[in-house]
Amino acid sequence: PVSVRVNDLLKRMSLDDKIGQMVQAERGAVTPAQAADLKLGSILSGGGSVPASNTPTGWADMVDAYQKAAVGTQLGIPTIYGVDAVHGHNNVYGATIFPHNIGLGATGDPDLVERIGRATAEEVAGTGPQWDFAPCLCVARDDRWGRTYESFGEHPDDAVDNSSAITGLQGRRLGERKGSVLATAKHFIGDGGTLDGVDQGNTVISEAELRKIHLPPFKAAIKRGVGSVMISFSSFQGTRMHAQQYLITDVLKKELRFDGFVISDYNAINQIDGQEGFTHDEVRLSVNAGIDMFMVPWDAPQFITFLKDEVAAGHVTLDRINDANKRILAKKFELGLFEHPYTDRSFQKTFGSKEHRDLAREAVRESQVLLKNDGVLPLDKKNNKIFVAGKNANDIGNQSGGWTLTWQGQSGPVIPGTTILDGIKSGAGKGTTVTYDRAGNGIDASYKVAVAVVGETPYAEGQGDRPKGLGLDAEDLATIAKLKATGVPVVVVLVSGRPLDIAEQLPGFNGLVEAWLPGSEGAGVSDVLFGDHKPTGKLTVSWPSSFAQEPINVGDGKKALFPYGYGLTYRR
Ligand code: IFM
Repeated sequence: PVSVRVNDLLKRMSLDDKIGQMVQAERGAVTPAQAADLKLGSILSGGGSVPASNTPTGWADMVDAYQKAAVGTQLGIPTIYGVDAVHGHNNVYGATIFPHNIGLGATGDPDLVERIGRATAEEVAGTGPQWDFAPCLCVARDDRWGRTYESFGEHPDDAVDNSSAITGLQGRRLGERKGSVLATAKHFIGDGGTLDGVDQGNTVISEAELRKIHLPPFKAAIKRGVGSVMISFSSFQGTRMHAQQYLITDVLKKELRFDGFVISDYNAINQIDGQEGFTHDEVRLSVNAGIDMFMVPWDAPQFITFLKDEVAAGHVTLDRINDANKRILAKKFELGLFEHPYTDRSFQKTFGSKEHRDLAREAVRESQVLLKNDGVLPLDKKNNKIFVAGKNANDIGNQSGGWTLTWQGQSGPVIPGTTILDGIKSGAGKGTTVTYDRAGNGIDASYKVAVAVVGETPYAEGQGDRPKGLGLDAEDLATIAKLKATGVPVVVVLVSGRPLDIAEQLPGFNGLVEAWLPGSEGAGVSDVLFGDHKPTGKLTVSWPSSFAQEPINVGDGKKALFPYGYGLTYRR
């Protein structure tokens, strides 16, 4: 059994070996040889940190180089390589990019989410990493929060139900299946509940409320055998989560019996005292709080020194160090890393494959939420004259959102796949013409319908908070106005990671579809516009009737513009 192997190994490990296992560095900070010298337990690629050749082979070669150095050390303990594959293997060029979680929540289809987890795991495993920092099980309670799109919805059940992603990534039992990876339930706890929706902010609610809203997804994740849990950057009642011994050790590890290991967020221990860098105090507080592995991307040597000092001073016990090591090593054994340390490149066969893209398209279709329809939808496929406009109509970077190729994501033709415009063009039938102009120039009254694809542009953690308003930008408003001026019926398709403040414009829309951040398969959106797939998506967020209503959540008695669970379909 694993515990026997862990104990046997532990007996042969020095304190240096043990402390090394608890440290994770960024690939850009250490070479394979340096990682082995420092005895590091793990390497990560932070968002957008890619090898010179950003291909499946480039990745596998890089990860295998770290692995070769690790297994070549005296004890031969394999490293574990972690990435943020949060909507497909989003760092690697050519990967299948699935809708972000907010769209997946709208599908109401946890089985689909499990299949997406499985496909993602294969794309990740085929390129080397054995660990995915996903799924995000945050319960997003305030749309002003920039990470709302990483949430399956505002009700705890949304994340509970879609914790099926974990089973997809890991399999029913860790190591039972090839092409599976270690999953991470993140971010523990209360990340989506901060005051005013501030990223990395303060969650100021009672413990009872924390348990009711934010704990259930972690219970579900543990039931599914999740291998790791990432701690939230945020604070709970004014204290940084990374220093919360009661919540991490007493609640997560003891009460909920989480037997995997706890990883810190990126440089997060630095924030415990609010000063730059980390101190001995911060190292001691966070290790004793119950964090087992430390994402100290650029400062591994310093962390190692500080933790050794704390052990020598008797501030951190050997029991604590052993507990952390047991947890980390057990998962490495369960994953089968000791037997199969290197990349199983056979899984590159399905990397970005048609099969995976079909699955993504199915998810896009199922995630569309029809919010308004005066009869203009579905669009006639035949003998139609369609004008398409808007900054998100023909921009695969925009429709994919943050965490796509780079950390923040980016506009433009950055990845392969289909844009929403591509989908409309290829879905159009005999006798139908499709004309596109981003700004809506050139439209006249001869068109039968205009489709405006507008909304947000990419952002990720830290950069996406919108404390001042969630309205459409000036470009979108101008585009829509231009289309409307012709008298042609206008369908608005919103590409966004959250509800936008559109109540004022809504009366002027003949149809409104929330497309979320669909990812690389934009054709899934046109499948719904043309009625090849009748809309089935339902809101897992309450849609405010004005920005002043934020935060608005199901059950709070406020009157939403579109309530939680809302979503129309077609009769014909
Ligand atoms: O996994 C992420 C986390 O969600 C936010 N901070 C960085 C981590 C690693 O990239």
